[in-house]
Amino acid sequence: MVKVCVVGASGGIGQPLSLLLKLNPYVSELALYDVRLAPGVAQDLSHINTNSNVTGYSKDDIEGALKGSQVVVIPAGVPRKPGMSRDDLFKINAGIIKGIVTSIGEYAPNSRILIISNPVNSTVPIAVEQLKAMGKLQPGNVMGVTTLDIVRAETFLVDYLANVKKSPTRQYDKTAISKEVTVIGGHSGKTIVPVVRNELYIDSLQDQYAEFIHRVQFGGDEVVKAKDGAGSATLSMALAGYRFTETILRSIHREATTPIPTFVYLPGISNGRQIQKKLRNEALEYFSLPVRLVDGRVSAIDASVLDHLSAKEQEMVHTAIQELLGSIDKGKKFVIGSS
Ligand code: NAD
Ligand code: LMR
Repeated sequence: MVKVCVVGASGGIGQPLSLLLKLNPYVSELALYDVRLAPGVAQDLSHINTNSNVTGYSKDDIEGALKGSQVVVIPAGVPRKPGMSRDDLFKINAGIIKGIVTSIGEYAPNSRILIISNPVNSTVPIAVEQLKAMGKLQPGNVMGVTTLDIVRAETFLVDYLANVKKSPTRQYDKTAISKEVTVIGGHSGKTIVPVVRNELYIDSLQDQYAEFIHRVQFGGDEVVKAKDGAGSATLSMALAGYRFTETILRSIHREATTPIPTFVYLPGISNGRQIQKKLRNEALEYFSLPVRLVDGRVSAIDASVLDHLSAKEQEMVHTAIQELLGSIDKGKKFVIGSS
């Protein structure tokens, strides 16, 4: 049985994510931490008749929340408003992530750390560098959550296929298309690289293929615009964050899991150096690719997806790498420059 801690549990993502985790039978203790309202959210969830215990911790007790946690999920920090890029969040969220990860290094150094807070392309390097500085880094434990891009790709692929085929019936199933599409790279605009595994689908999409790519890469902007100043994706992100966390929990419970993409520190993973070579950029330290899990930790990267990329997908990977290098460097410098 597993203690899971949600840091940022009272927020737009944190609350529905905590609700979903309350329903998971593998969770024995759900610790909710936030700088505001976490005890109230915990009290509310504690009335649900599933078997986990829920506890809420206030601002001054992150130690209580983290101690004994095997999994820590972090949706803490500010979200975007219209007109902002994810990188605009760096100014506030970089310090928040550094502080939270410092506490994790002190109180839950062996936990799997799942980072949702944006900009993911920089917050994951901040977490890795901070743990490194503390002598607490276990690279396979630090994962940037990019699952929302995959959820979007699955949804939009089916929408476009149904549209071009003018299919009157539900010919495609959004819940069963995961083998046909995945997303690699990073989590922001052009760093998001959707990969359609079935070439027939690309042919079917015709001129809608470019639109499909654009929607996956900029889906976050659609939500930010529609919410009109009230934040960014929360409910779809809670589902995506849950999907990722559930995979980690199943792996901890020795269940077989299919490789799932996550943004990881390549030099710290067993076959990471080979992947850097495969990506033709040995200076690239982070990339999201499907990973193999053992005990809920990244044991190796499954880069088979890179062997079958089309020319267009290879070009997207190249573009993604150029942008990622800057975001990664910015995250690293935030820690190295301030230590
Ligand atoms: P929100 O403002 O609704 O919630 C954030 C919560 O974090 C708040 O309750 C706040 O009190 C809390 N918080 C702030 N500083 C904290 C700290 N030091 N310790 C603990 N809690 C703290 O925002 P949201 O909509 O839930 O989004 C949260 C983050 O997730 C944003 O950075 C957003 O950009 C990001 N996000 C990422 C993805 C992704 O795909 N990875 C998707 C959606 C949103
Ligand atoms: C998303 O993809 O929806 C999140 O990263 C939130 C955002 O700022 O777009």
